[in-house]
Amino acid sequence: MTLSCSTTPLQNFKADAIVLFILQDAKAFASQAKSLKSMFPNLQPVFDSGDFTGKALQAVTGYVGATTRRVILVGLGESANISAETLRRAAATATKRAASLTCSHVGYVLPTVKGLDAGVVAKAISEGAVLSQYGYVKYKTTGNKEFVTKFTVLADEAQAKLARKGTTEATAIIEGVNEARDLANAPNCEIYPTALGKRAVELGKKYGFKTTVLNKKQIEALGMGGLLGVNQGSVRPPSFIIMEYNGGKKGEQPIVLVGKGVTFDTGGISLKPAAGMSDMKSDMHGAASVIGTMMSVAKLGIKRNVVALVPSTENMPSGTAVVPGDILKFMNGLTAEIDNTDAEGRLILADALCYAARYKPEVVIDLATLTGAIVIALGNTTTGMMGTDTKTMKKLSTSGASTSEYVCELPLYEEYEELISSDYADVKNSGGRPAGSITAALFLKKFVSYPWVHLDIAGTGIAPKATHYSPKGATGVGVRLLTEAIQNW
Ligand code: BES
Ligand code: MN
Ligand code: ZN
Repeated sequence: MTLSCSTTPLQNFKADAIVLFILQDAKAFASQAKSLKSMFPNLQPVFDSGDFTGKALQAVTGYVGATTRRVILVGLGESANISAETLRRAAATATKRAASLTCSHVGYVLPTVKGLDAGVVAKAISEGAVLSQYGYVKYKTTGNKEFVTKFTVLADEAQAKLARKGTTEATAIIEGVNEARDLANAPNCEIYPTALGKRAVELGKKYGFKTTVLNKKQIEALGMGGLLGVNQGSVRPPSFIIMEYNGGKKGEQPIVLVGKGVTFDTGGISLKPAAGMSDMKSDMHGAASVIGTMMSVAKLGIKRNVVALVPSTENMPSGTAVVPGDILKFMNGLTAEIDNTDAEGRLILADALCYAARYKPEVVIDLATLTGAIVIALGNTTTGMMGTDTKTMKKLSTSGASTSEYVCELPLYEEYEELISSDYADVKNSGGRPAGSITAALFLKKFVSYPWVHLDIAGTGIAPKATHYSPKGATGVGVRLLTEAIQNW
């Protein structure tokens, strides 16, 4: 994939297609139509027909007999309603149209949008265009793999400086998102705990953060009984991945990210039903999101200290696996009774949250495909947010709105706690079906000794069907949300 910005005049620009963004407002529409008809006379009948109105996401292909033969007109709707998300979706719509016409190089004429500077517009268009062309096709040896691979944002001299900044930022973010998608879409036979660690090391070297991977012996020495307990049914050993990026001042308290890294969740002895179980190869999406975020943050050179921690294991049933009734002891000495071996995410996160205290963090944000209950509550559109740090939750809400990676807060009232009280240990790992996402978060809260936010991405991380610029499967959610929040911290 190459994404760049160019000031080549439209008439001389050579690609497989040019995308033109059209406003619906009567005056703007008429003036865009007029100048396009004079530049590309073949567009005359398109405009004269009145079929194309510039309505948001309306798209039409025209053949113009110029240096670049095809133009794709795509509507942005009324200018009062255009947001960054409108631009991402319009760019995605046009790019998918271009891909269906087997175009591989597409140019995007940067539109002028009231209230958004050229950098924001270029960034949004780039994100929508490039992210829409992601596909997890590495294991497909036959069939159609046609994607747009070269993206050029066409700016005029006045826009060029900001537009370049926009495409450069977008490149850093897209690389993080698509790596997160790749990691989370990868099957367990490829991305198992030590393989995930190896990948994090490679990415750290390439992007400029330090990665340390703790092995089973080191995890034992730390007393991470939750991570070891979940792992005990597996043949493959666990790993604990530590990524450190020091973009901030020495001694500045870091933002610590924690990502659930269950590379496959069978449910363990409390085995999941067979239907749809393959989705659980993505049960390390939290890990994928924090790794992708480290890439983007490092590539952007953000001036902050950021750490990411990933406890990683499979959750397997076997003769050595944990069983309901077993009691595990975590790194901080607390104990938990296993009520359901399928509530494994909170067990491994508990140890990671204990470990995070070492950094004296400004805040810890964990991301996890933690509960099916969050999918029932918020569907696949909104991430469930719970925590103790209202300031950070506000930052995430703001970045959620501008990235369209929405978050919504659920309460952690202490009344819910009795659902996870245990007769035999300090806490029980499942509270049953009522308020399942909240009891999972309350379990985590017992291991937290600093400002903290938990993001349950079970619904938003694994998409049952394609959306505007995200195909079915792993979405890469969290990377844009966190990177933008950290950028604006
Ligand atoms: N990984 C699952 C949660 C999940 C479900 C993620 C659907 C993505 C899509 C998690 O480990 C799990 O199994 N949670 C249980 C908890 C229950 C046993 C308390 C659940 O949600 O059913
Ligand atoms: Mn589970
Ligand atoms: Zn799980």
